[in-house]
Amino acid sequence: MASKYAEVYQGWQDNPEGFWAEAAKEIDWFTPASKTFDANEGVYGRWFTGATCNTCYNCVDRHVENGRADQPAIIYDSPITGNKKTLTYRDLLIETQALGNVMKSKGVGKGDRVIIYMPMVPEAAIAMLACARIGAIHSVVFGGFAAAELATRIDDSSPKFIISASCGIEPNRVVSYKPLLDEAIEISNNKPQATLILQREEETCDLLAGRDFDYSDEMAKAREAADSLPCEPVLATDPLYVLYTSGTTGQPKGVIRDNGGHMVALKWSMKAIYDVDPGEVYWAASDVGWVVGHSYIVYAPLLHGATTILFEGKPVGTPDAGTFWRVIEEHKVETLFTAPTAFRAIKGQDPEGEFIKKYDLSHFRNLFLAGERADPDTIHWAERMLGVPVIDHWWQTETGWTIAGNPMGLGKLPIKYGSPTVPMPGYHMEVLDDEGNPLAAGELGNIVVKMPLPPGCLPTLWNAEERFKSAYLSEFPGYYQTADAGFIDEDGYLFIMARTDDIINVAGHRLSTGGMEEVVAAHKDVAECAVVGIADEMKGQSPCGFLVLNAGVNRDHEDIKKEVVQLVREKIGPVAAFKKALVVKRLPKTRSGKILRSTMQKIADGMEWKMPATIDDPAILDEIKEVLEQQS
Ligand code: COA
Ligand code: AMP
Repeated sequence: MASKYAEVYQGWQDNPEGFWAEAAKEIDWFTPASKTFDANEGVYGRWFTGATCNTCYNCVDRHVENGRADQPAIIYDSPITGNKKTLTYRDLLIETQALGNVMKSKGVGKGDRVIIYMPMVPEAAIAMLACARIGAIHSVVFGGFAAAELATRIDDSSPKFIISASCGIEPNRVVSYKPLLDEAIEISNNKPQATLILQREEETCDLLAGRDFDYSDEMAKAREAADSLPCEPVLATDPLYVLYTSGTTGQPKGVIRDNGGHMVALKWSMKAIYDVDPGEVYWAASDVGWVVGHSYIVYAPLLHGATTILFEGKPVGTPDAGTFWRVIEEHKVETLFTAPTAFRAIKGQDPEGEFIKKYDLSHFRNLFLAGERADPDTIHWAERMLGVPVIDHWWQTETGWTIAGNPMGLGKLPIKYGSPTVPMPGYHMEVLDDEGNPLAAGELGNIVVKMPLPPGCLPTLWNAEERFKSAYLSEFPGYYQTADAGFIDEDGYLFIMARTDDIINVAGHRLSTGGMEEVVAAHKDVAECAVVGIADEMKGQSPCGFLVLNAGVNRDHEDIKKEVVQLVREKIGPVAAFKKALVVKRLPKTRSGKILRSTMQKIADGMEWKMPATIDDPAILDEIKEVLEQQS
């Protein structure tokens, strides 16, 4: 079909509030909004002010009431443990009521924060929905983070309650969560009142009497009592969750997501962007610890009445590079959403697509990629192997849904390789130079969104309104700064080329090199350091630390490097994938003392680079080159 995109986007431009008021009809509200958008509320205005609603009601109860009670809501498939389980919408209603009642019995109520530190098990999604049900604000922490990172999030969000598990399972090891949780609680200033621990059979853990409660025991009691638990009405503008994401320092940013705008935007996206109908099977192969997991493993598919896949495994090695195709065949997945790095991993192990040929993928319609730039090679390979459209789309934790994409439900637009296509309704995009002047088509600059942001995007940061303003709104007044650089071509297609800050993207995971530098610099022998993201064939980027040692240190450099690598693993977590450290004599700097990280990165990647005009001592770049050459 011819694409309706231009017409729909124009419709939004002509009447933004009318557009979102129409989309809001897809949501069941307890009381309607007094204003679709109130420019006088919040930092830059708020969506659906005055409305009351409940996200769990819209994800679960209304589907049970409207004939979907026996439809699978969540299919859990765990090749890493060999377990599979299906939860219908009715099951989800029973489970969220039971867990809501357990939390209430522990004193958790509306507005309280609950940290969820769990592996990819259905109980993680149930916990998120149960929080939504009682109006508590969840904050999910990815399992690959270490105790100190968890502690930072505990300190910032001051949770009353934590839901966790005894362990997570990685292909090469069992990850004991409980010692990490205990350590995090120990070192944090805000202690939760209680925890609820899911004991997994792969490894159980000790529970602390009076503080830790057993998930299965508590849930069994609550299920038996079978007390119903109506969904708590919350304001559309009340927070549904806080999700921490990397900023330019070691202190992560607590992105707030509200209830009303979030539901409206996600529900709209399921048909318009992903072309999914209620009742179909949709799979986001990510983790609930990331924004993709929040939006597209849990909330959007359930809001839409679709079936979502919760996959505990990896694209390769669990057990092989055919695992994605097995899941697609077995569960009749129509739409898959994952990160390009997953496809690079599969392609690396199965370049000829031998595994693909073994499975019936005839019902599979579309592959969506996001989380990092989708390199044309990977897209071409996936298209050739799967014979379906491969759609890149660009978004951020902050936005919660697509900024630019190819809205398949409105009719596919021509693909330009290397571009995530065009802005979605709600996003007026511009490219500005560093002084804030608009740039012409094709010119590279700062990609910004004209305010206000659409429904679903962050209204502010948790407990950090000034940081919200300074990080996103102050550099280009009137615009949200995406911190991505790129250009818009003459057809209005966006091209996302690089971050303008020190965030790097490692295997689709967003990490702060500034945060890693804080850890590395704390090593007793390190005088100063720089961490840069260097090109990695599979992960896109991987961090590399350049260390300048204190004068007089005469220990073996190899020992120091190993200690630094271990320190980052201990303090940030294995997910940082920090495995490479190099000792250099000096770091290249500008005359005002700024470390020239991007020049170092270009040298390390073998890219063309120009001698920065402001460099203090050009000879240092030769020293860096020499060290890199010795390593390779
Ligand atoms: N809990 C504990 N540890 C975890 C973890 C978790 N949930 N997730 C990852 N880790 C660990 C890994 O075991 C690994 O540890 P190691 O150094 O001991 O090997 C380390 O963190 C790095 O993990 P990762 O970067 O994921 O590398 P990998 O080699 O294990 O796997 C991919 C590479 C590409 C297969 C994998 O990263 C992947 O599937 N990426 C998709 C990313 C994604 O879904 N992003 C979301 C946006 S769509
Ligand atoms: P996260 O907040 O973890 O989703 O990471 C967001 C960042 O990932 C963006 O600011 C981009 O730098 C990068 N990113 C995500 N999707 C894409 C994409 N499709 N193309 C290019 N970069 C992307």
